[in-house]
Amino acid sequence: MIDRTIDEYRELFEEHLLDFIPDIDQKSITLYDSMKYSLTAGGKRIRPVLLMAACEFCGGKAEEALPYACAIEYIHTYSLIHDDLPCMDDDELRRGQPTNHVIYGDGVATLAGDGLQSAAYEAMQRDMLLYFDNIDALKCRIRAAYEIVKGAGVTGMVAGQIADVEAENKRCSKELLDYIHITKTADMIIGAVRAGARLGCCNEHDLDNLTTFAENLGLAFQVCDDILDVEGDQELLGKEVGHDEANCKATYPALYGLEESKAKLRELTDAAKEALAEYYDNAELFVELAEMLASRVC
Ligand code: IPE
Ligand code: IPE
Ligand code: MG
Ligand code: MG
Ligand code: MG
Repeated sequence: MIDRTIDEYRELFEEHLLDFIPDIDQKSITLYDSMKYSLTAGGKRIRPVLLMAACEFCGGKAEEALPYACAIEYIHTYSLIHDDLPCMDDDELRRGQPTNHVIYGDGVATLAGDGLQSAAYEAMQRDMLLYFDNIDALKCRIRAAYEIVKGAGVTGMVAGQIADVEAENKRCSKELLDYIHITKTADMIIGAVRAGARLGCCNEHDLDNLTTFAENLGLAFQVCDDILDVEGDQELLGKEVGHDEANCKATYPALYGLEESKAKLRELTDAAKEALAEYYDNAELFVELAEMLASRVC
């Protein structure tokens, strides 16, 4: 059962954010510094909050989900560091700070991303090693790790990122736009929710409903991000605005216009909430989170 607020999950997560970064040799301390720089710069922590809340919703304990919550935030942070590189979106502001490559250079930033990715796998695998004599708990953890890795991988986030890069400066169909947005962004959000559910040893019915919630929330999240790139406040967002148009990116506002994009955001947010309607107040945190994210657009 969920008995924490969004802020309480976030606070719990922040306390343990660096716990699963391995001890790094002094000779490679720049790697640690650069990974820590981007991890601690801020961020909404949506994915770890979703993961821990889904775990508790399904009967698990948030504390036991921490290695997986950290893993997904490490992978997400690596994706942002690489996304900002000059060879990708070429952005200089992230989480209200200069981007990793602006501070450390392109080579270190690339390796900070690589390091965060492997630290994520290490965190999950090390946790699994503790459960060899409890096969049911081990199965839940293997399933959870698979959800995260699949969402982040070459049919998920990375697939979306390459489609995004290749769609620059080209006419993009609506079908391709949805493919990009679902893979590059929604798949990690689906991975977070499903991993949490797996850790709570969820039943199939609840897993299906949570997945429908996450699919709609995930696409809504990127539609919202696209809209904010057009009309958001750089100070509040902590990242540069107007770059999608400058980079000729395939976005919802570019294909549908702002008004239709906002209508789509509302439709997706409502569909996300509807997927959990049968749980009434028990799913309130998820409904609140979906509304909070959509409300960033007026
Ligand atoms: C930014 O993700 C990248 C997208 C998938 C749109 P977030 O908006 O979750 O970024 P942080 O973690 O809060 O910085
Ligand atoms: C990136 O989408 C999604 C990732 C997988 C990192 P964007 O390129 O739109 O994200 P922002 O706007 O830079 O955060
Ligand atoms: Mg990008
Ligand atoms: Mg970007
Ligand atoms: Mg964006």
